[in-house]
Amino acid sequence: MPGHGRPIKEDNETISEDATPAVKDAAPLATAQRVEHYEIAGYGTVRTFANLLAQPKASSLLGKTLKKEADTDKKLTTVAKKLNLKTRRVAPKKTK
Ligand SMILES: [Fe+2]
Repeated sequence: MPGHGRPIKEDNETISEDATPAVKDAAPLATAQRVEHYEIAGYGTVRTFANLLAQPKASSLLGKTLKKEADTDKKLTTVAKKLNLKTRRVAPKKTK
């Protein structure tokens, strides 16, 4: 699906910035989730069009693809939560 260039460019910018290793580790995951959200929006919109145009076969196929994208997003959320917990454990404590 076209349009993935911008999140990937932003990911590369984050990785090249002066960020902590944990942030750099999390950047590709955040990018993957942005891509999934982009795909979910696209497939959802097209499925709505298919419904409006009375195209049940197309709507069904798009619905299946949409579910796969949503499932991937949920898996990425699970990984992100684990990574964020790990990051919190290794983050340096702030001093006043
Ligand atoms: Fe996807």
